[in-house]
Amino acid sequence: MAHEIALADIGVYGLGTMGSALALNFAGKGFSVAVTNREAGWIDDFLNEAPEFVDKMSGYAELADFVQAIKAPRTILFMIPSGKPMDAMIETIKPLLSEGDTIIDGGNADFNETRRRSAELDGTGLHFVGMGVSGGEDGARHGPSMMVGGTAHSWTQLKPMAEAIAAKFEGEPCVDHLGPDGAGHFVKTVHNGIEYADMQMISEIYGLLRDQGGQEPAEIGQMFERWATGPLSSYLIEISGAALQSVDSKTGQPMVDVILDKAGQKGTGRWTLVEALKLGQSASMIEAAVGARGWSSEKDMRVAADPLLEKGAIPAELPTEKDMENAMMAARILGHAQGFRILSSASEEFDWALDMARIAEIWRAGCIIRSSLLDEIAAAFRAELPFDHLILAPAISELLAVSISGLRRVVAVAALTGQPVPALSAALAWHDTMARGRGTANMIQAQRDFFGAHGFERMDVEGKHYGDWNAV
Ligand code: 6PG
Repeated sequence: MAHEIALADIGVYGLGTMGSALALNFAGKGFSVAVTNREAGWIDDFLNEAPEFVDKMSGYAELADFVQAIKAPRTILFMIPSGKPMDAMIETIKPLLSEGDTIIDGGNADFNETRRRSAELDGTGLHFVGMGVSGGEDGARHGPSMMVGGTAHSWTQLKPMAEAIAAKFEGEPCVDHLGPDGAGHFVKTVHNGIEYADMQMISEIYGLLRDQGGQEPAEIGQMFERWATGPLSSYLIEISGAALQSVDSKTGQPMVDVILDKAGQKGTGRWTLVEALKLGQSASMIEAAVGARGWSSEKDMRVAADPLLEKGAIPAELPTEKDMENAMMAARILGHAQGFRILSSASEEFDWALDMARIAEIWRAGCIIRSSLLDEIAAAFRAELPFDHLILAPAISELLAVSISGLRRVVAVAALTGQPVPALSAALAWHDTMARGRGTANMIQAQRDFFGAHGFERMDVEGKHYGDWNAV
């Protein structure tokens, strides 16, 4: 095929949106890149569109030629759909590889599969890396945030290239080796869980302003634009502001008004939730966000139910912009706190020794959830953290203290007026549960023991006890 180069520093398999962008990013940083694709026809098209990298990139239609074109020990990045295609590719490429070579799965993969694939290659001399890549097409091309798992050997190979192409936060690359086997993919999955919650909460505030405030998309967009320059400064608030002010060229209508209110999902939010539950952790805000996407797809049912279900709404004054900004801030903190709690629980379960501060640091630029809050979260993790819980870090609890009443007002107004705010409500419920030394689980224990003699702990005497349920 076109353009022969000296042995390549890295191979990229898969020239879809993300693979192409990453290949160009590597080439732009001076690395030589061998590329290939399942549909060989794409290879020349891709190379022809990047004549500036004629000396840096080389395409191969045959897998064996592609492998031979890469410097050993080889680093081969696969940007293909997760699941069966990855397993099939490992089987196909394995016989062509040599001792010390590394296969990287840069897609969003279920970390359980990544652990299985790593274990299967263990002892073969080949290495498997699960690498989470965040930032969409633009991030991949100009600087993604990357969460790397796998062996130290693979990281030594990959590190200089990954650091060169990564997003930079004050000059520091937003990539690191976070732990063995599935650690990188797990951290990326939780990143996406936090992303789901943040996106859902932004949508809920939009909904309140649209349905209770009667505001037009552009007006709401301008508000997010203002927020993007304050404490909520973040990529998601910024793009929400821009999206709400965009106009559909076909109809002249606001873009968001021509989009059907049904949201799809590829699985990472759900995976976060499933793993959190398996670890005995609450991920109520992520559950709310995943669930809301599910409900959104029941469009016909909702249209039918709208005139049939009495809402019982009670008029209430719309919260102020400051209250809504505070609500978003408090809920964002709580969403991140739930995410980091899942990470520390997984770290313990799988013996990964995840560095929470480092994770927050590599999320400060390049990724979808990048925000100024993450800088404060990173600092909180670098300092002493009471009970290993983000919401108890002094700087974070102070931020919560000034913003929580805003969340309370927004949730209260939404509840009164019949506006659904599942993620914001979940945030408040979790906060209020954690903020009370005395909860109500004594009542749950009483019921369990009453009907099933499950026993309970007493406040005054240690050990397992059974009640005298003689009241009826
Ligand atoms: C990222 C994103 C990305 C994800 C999309 C779509 O970090 O760049 O998380 O990995 O694929 O956001 O995800 P859903 O289709 O599940 O919303």
